[in-house]
Amino acid sequence: MPERIEGFSKLSKAEKIDWIVRQFTHDPDHYRSVLERYWNEDTKLQRIHDEFAENTLSNFYLPLGIAPNFLINEKLYAIPMAIEESSVVAAASKAAKYWIDRGGFRAEVLGTEKIGQVHFTFKGDGVWLKKTFDSIKPVLFKDTEELTRNMRSRGGGITQIYLVDKTKLLEGYYQLYVTFETVDAMGANFINSCLEQLGASLQREIAERSGSEKQSGTLDVVMSILSNYVPHCLVRAEVSCPVSELNEDLPLEPQTFADKLLQAVQIARVEPYRAVTHNKGIMNGVDAVVLATGNDFRAIEAGVHAFAARDGGYRGLTEAWIRNDIFTLRMDIPLALGTVGGITNLHPLVEFSLEILGKPTAAELMEITAVAGLAQNFAALRSLVTTGIQQGHMKMHLLNILNQLGATHSEKEKVVEYFKTETVSFSAAEKVLQQIRQS
Ligand code: MEV
Repeated sequence: MPERIEGFSKLSKAEKIDWIVRQFTHDPDHYRSVLERYWNEDTKLQRIHDEFAENTLSNFYLPLGIAPNFLINEKLYAIPMAIEESSVVAAASKAAKYWIDRGGFRAEVLGTEKIGQVHFTFKGDGVWLKKTFDSIKPVLFKDTEELTRNMRSRGGGITQIYLVDKTKLLEGYYQLYVTFETVDAMGANFINSCLEQLGASLQREIAERSGSEKQSGTLDVVMSILSNYVPHCLVRAEVSCPVSELNEDLPLEPQTFADKLLQAVQIARVEPYRAVTHNKGIMNGVDAVVLATGNDFRAIEAGVHAFAARDGGYRGLTEAWIRNDIFTLRMDIPLALGTVGGITNLHPLVEFSLEILGKPTAAELMEITAVAGLAQNFAALRSLVTTGIQQGHMKMHLLNILNQLGATHSEKEKVVEYFKTETVSFSAAEKVLQQIRQS
């Protein structure tokens, strides 16, 4: 039975490892060496990673891949993707290559508004609160001037502060609903600092005015926090081409292919079980770029899925139509991304990713990321409505199978060659490997 520990965070890294492998593993020496193998020999680099989070023992690698040939708004990109799932980068690359010959992707930022809230309770005269709020509002802007100075000099800041009466939902519940422009920063710390100041100022002003005016009330701030639901921080990505140019190297007429794509998109609009998987495929592309560029994928995931359910039903994020024989696949997706702040200038691989994307603004990164998601959706649907996804997936997964079977480099080469024309499965790969070993 493992022991409870006090002061774990104060132990050195070696002591932490020693404690964890002794308490929780059956082979402390083995797991100690696993953790140590993933350290970086460059101690400066290792320290940067250690300091990103707390109680760090080692590093957790993800492959960083590149999907080239993305033509977005007439500009060519190679998109960095950090992801562990085989076939995602290959699918993105394939979709990029497909669309580069059909005019490429178009993307457009529709809005960049971020939202935060000060949630509070008020006991007293609600009409007085609303009237008083109008006179307090300038004070709220003034009290946050120091915090917003830098952001304002870059063209951002607090754009509006509203008082919202939520008492019909919850007794005494009101909120300040605050909108922000954070330019190239994701802005979480900026927004939360502003909100905490707004909460404190509001509480102080209401207390002061309650004392000196006839009407009064008691205001208690419950919490001040940004919202990861950002329906107005929105980007649109789109591809289109004449149906006749949707030619596939498959025994499928372009019109049949287009109709099937349309049906697949429509099914995801009306069927939540399918919609979740449809959107998961989109997030394969989105998350991989979000991670590679040092952004917060949990925030993005939470916001995107809430958006997918904004009308009360969970729906696929893409839409498709054929008009005048032109096939279009489009997606609007909320993406609160940053290209400055956070770990963007601390993590050397994030810096690399942003460098190869041409040091994009946050708006450009929104466009690139949305395109990666749309490309992924197109690639998935293209496989699903034609060959099925397993053919491609299993080919990409073959190296994982061979690694599990302990294949050597030359064995892998032979097996991969064999499966160029055969269907991959675990047992088939095992059998072929055995045959190679016996011969
Ligand atoms: C697998 O990671 C993603 C897909 O399931 C997406 C989809 O079904 O649209 C292939």
